[in-house]
Amino acid sequence: MIRYSRQLISSSDIKTVNQVLKSDFLTQGPKSILFEKKLSSKFNVKYSTSCNSATSALHLACLALGVKKGDHVWTCTNSFVASASCALHCGAKIDLVDINSETYNLDINSLLKKLKIAYKKKKLPKVLIPVHFAGLPCEMREIHKLSKKYKFKIIEDASHAVGAKYYGSKIGSCKYSDITIFSFHPVKIMTTAEGGAALTNSKELDFKLKFYRSHGITKERKFLNKRNKANWYYECKDLGFNYRLNDIQSALGISQLKKVNKWLLYRNKLAKNYQKKLKNLPIEFFSSKKEFYSSYHLFIIKILKNKKGLTRDNLFKYLHKKNIQTNVHYIPIHTHPFYKKLGFKSKNFPNAEHYFKNCLSLPMHVALKFSDQNKVINLIKKFFK
Ligand SMILES: Cc1ncc(COP(=O)(O)O)c(C=O)c1O
Repeated sequence: MIRYSRQLISSSDIKTVNQVLKSDFLTQGPKSILFEKKLSSKFNVKYSTSCNSATSALHLACLALGVKKGDHVWTCTNSFVASASCALHCGAKIDLVDINSETYNLDINSLLKKLKIAYKKKKLPKVLIPVHFAGLPCEMREIHKLSKKYKFKIIEDASHAVGAKYYGSKIGSCKYSDITIFSFHPVKIMTTAEGGAALTNSKELDFKLKFYRSHGITKERKFLNKRNKANWYYECKDLGFNYRLNDIQSALGISQLKKVNKWLLYRNKLAKNYQKKLKNLPIEFFSSKKEFYSSYHLFIIKILKNKKGLTRDNLFKYLHKKNIQTNVHYIPIHTHPFYKKLGFKSKNFPNAEHYFKNCLSLPMHVALKFSDQNKVINLIKKFFK
């Protein structure tokens, strides 16, 4: 089976992890601290908080920004449900924005329209969570401008976009946001098995991210009710969680992080090969600009209406029979039964609905050989013949 995505683990990754297994610390030891330092220096950001998933990092980010009952949080409907559930876990209301039909990312015009209406109704979002879908950065300059005008905070869900760049700045540097989230799930750009991180330039937000990650407990003297205690003393000051990443995973993260630049070049080469060889078929790719450097976590095709009536689902079945795994990203959040119950209506998301009916994620990962990719390409050509 040619997989749509998978991790790539080298002997040096295994060696690094083995060293931790033989060491004194398996949980929050020196590797966890080092991984956070490496993340901060790689992505030009002041602070990093590693977490046991991007889902928990998104939850922590909402908590750190003070999201609570009565608040509104917005994200894009074309995402994994974790981009929305993080706000619901804080008791806030979630609302969704439609996609741009060319980039498949959050649509700026739809966002603007929605903000104008929300302003009149006094229901502006406290936080917006733009998702760099498939690894392509969102229009962060526009989003940042709107955040100043309408006074909302920004959490970038960059689960797909480790290593991506936007007008020369690295995704993760938080140039246009308060917090950026990464995922290190095995199908993503790099892995710690399960894992994620929250990056920020704010010392206060960094404190809160780490505070809620570890039970709402602090040892920092200035925050304690009783300050004259010995060094072992700590206080639990709010309801928190155990969302920590352990030293075994952090060691794997340190080792994988070294390869991100090289891997992104390879992913971009695979993308070019798909684009060149599938060019004359009834297929559309997302459009980008030269100032956007995609990490190509996913390579998505949108199947256009064609004379033979060849559909996405038929292509999925055809490739599956030939031992090629493809996937659909994403079932729009507003169409899931749980979210439907919250009152979302399909007619409010025409671009996402159309995209969803026709999209297919082709194999894209660093363990994919060009020879296997060409097999996939030739089968797709045969399907449309
Ligand atoms: C856009 C997006 N956000 C968040 C997540 C959650 O990531 P994790 O599995 O690390 O919790 C995912 C996972 O697929 C995702 O695609």
